[in-house]
Amino acid sequence: MQDKLILALDVDSFDKAKRLVDMLSPSVRIFKVGSQLFVNSGPAIIDYINRKKKKVFLDLKFYDIPNTVEKACIEAARHRVFMLTLHASGGFDMLSRAQNALKRMKKKPLLVGVTVLTSKDDKNAKTTVLELAKLSQKAGLAGVVCSPKETWLVKKVCGTKFIVVNPGIRPTWAAAGDQKRFTTPKEAIQRGADFIVVGRPVTEATDPAEAVKRILEEI
Ligand code: C5P
Repeated sequence: MQDKLILALDVDSFDKAKRLVDMLSPSVRIFKVGSQLFVNSGPAIIDYINRKKKKVFLDLKFYDIPNTVEKACIEAARHRVFMLTLHASGGFDMLSRAQNALKRMKKKPLLVGVTVLTSKDDKNAKTTVLELAKLSQKAGLAGVVCSPKETWLVKKVCGTKFIVVNPGIRPTWAAAGDQKRFTTPKEAIQRGADFIVVGRPVTEATDPAEAVKRILEEI
């Protein structure tokens, strides 16, 4: 179950991220580096996590013209990231160019398409997620990011091997914050998620190691 948990390092300095990685490394195997941390710490934090023999999920949600996204994905792959996000709504050309570029890299990150953000209380989320998941699969991506509420549908249509990553995870003891379409860790795994992304329930806990332990016990 440890291989299913991704810890979102949404903090504002290299030192805070490093402290969390050091503290949680025994039980967390994948750390997510998002916009906030990448803007303040740059690739140094990716290299630090790799040196600790942990995996990096680089969540910069690329969305740009195909050429720019392709080049950004190549740079990310050079930093040896395990998984990488781009917005599925960027369209087929953007997605397929990125995927094809990665095929030529020695260390190929898993490319996953972000569908509908879990902070959106979108009534049409299911339809949009499914359309974007099918598009991502057609472009050759490894999987998608969606809310736990849509996992079963994506797996049913795209097959069980198509990776589903779920943010929007809230243990019963944690605050929802800005997340709207969320479930508990246990429910997300039961619904078929390959990976769950958890941030604030751990990073803002008084005892982050204890919070991770409780989540791992739950799943
Ligand atoms: O703190 P929290 O557990 O809400 O963090 C969720 C993480 O997952 C954040 O880093 C956020 O950027 C990311 N994420 C998300 N919804 C998506 C894709 C990524 O919440 N659809």
